[in-house]
Amino acid sequence: MYTDKEPLELALLYHLNSPVPKSYVKRVPATELRYMPEAPFLELPKAPRNNPLIELLERRSSVRSFENKVMPTISLAQLLDAGCGINGLRRVEGQFFEGRNSPSAGGLYPIEVFVSTQAVEGLAAGLYHYEPRSHGLHRVSNAVPTDFVESLLQQDYIVNANALFVFTSVFMRSMCKYGARGYRFALLEAGHQAENICLMAVQLGLGSLCIGGFHDMSVNTILGIDGKHHAALYCVAVGSYSSQEL
Ligand SMILES: Cc1cc2nc3c(=O)[nH]c(=O)nc-3n(C[C@H](O)[C@H](O)[C@H](O)COP(=O)(O)O)c2cc1C
Repeated sequence: MYTDKEPLELALLYHLNSPVPKSYVKRVPATELRYMPEAPFLELPKAPRNNPLIELLERRSSVRSFENKVMPTISLAQLLDAGCGINGLRRVEGQFFEGRNSPSAGGLYPIEVFVSTQAVEGLAAGLYHYEPRSHGLHRVSNAVPTDFVESLLQQDYIVNANALFVFTSVFMRSMCKYGARGYRFALLEAGHQAENICLMAVQLGLGSLCIGGFHDMSVNTILGIDGKHHAALYCVAVGSYSSQEL
């Protein structure tokens, strides 16, 4: 049994010991996934399809072949804003806190967003860090999406993507309040932001690919972060695509 004295070490130990496996187990058959097959079954009314959110959800699917086209800067701004942009102030127990476009446990926002870009109108290709409060980018390096291919375990689907978003977490922001559970929250929050970006991509007529298969330390090295207290969790590539290639 682990004690509450070691949640931080435990989470870090797990993080550093969860690389992409060298071999995969077979898929679990669908028949084994049904929950309580013996229980009474209540059929639900058919969900109406004609609302804007469902339309976006239906149109999202993974794109693994991007076209080499220029993306307007405003699209990059919209994607970043959808992921973690600030959308006003929220009043909680008489105090005001900034609200963002994705939820965060305790409003602690452990997730940071880096973006490696190319062919974005008016923006020098390279790696940037997004600052939600001032809605701007700090330039980090010259690393373009192709520079990540090796770290992404040779997944070269992204070579023509305009933007490769990398969600990282400063774990202690959440773990200082929630202990080891804060580690879980960081993973969940990266997922929230990634989905927002994928849906905004659909809205903008762009394609996206979520990527969880990568070599942690080499992505962290490109980003210039230590991989322990601040580490890469998840990536999303966004760019133009031809619908015939889906
Ligand atoms: C957490 C996560 C990690 C993923 N990692 C990869 C990846 O490394 N490479 C890849 O090609 N697709 C990756 N995908 C995309 C899935 O393969 C894809 O979502 C799934 O096959 C369902 O297809 P759809 O996205 O078109 O609905 C990932 C998706 C998720 C949610």
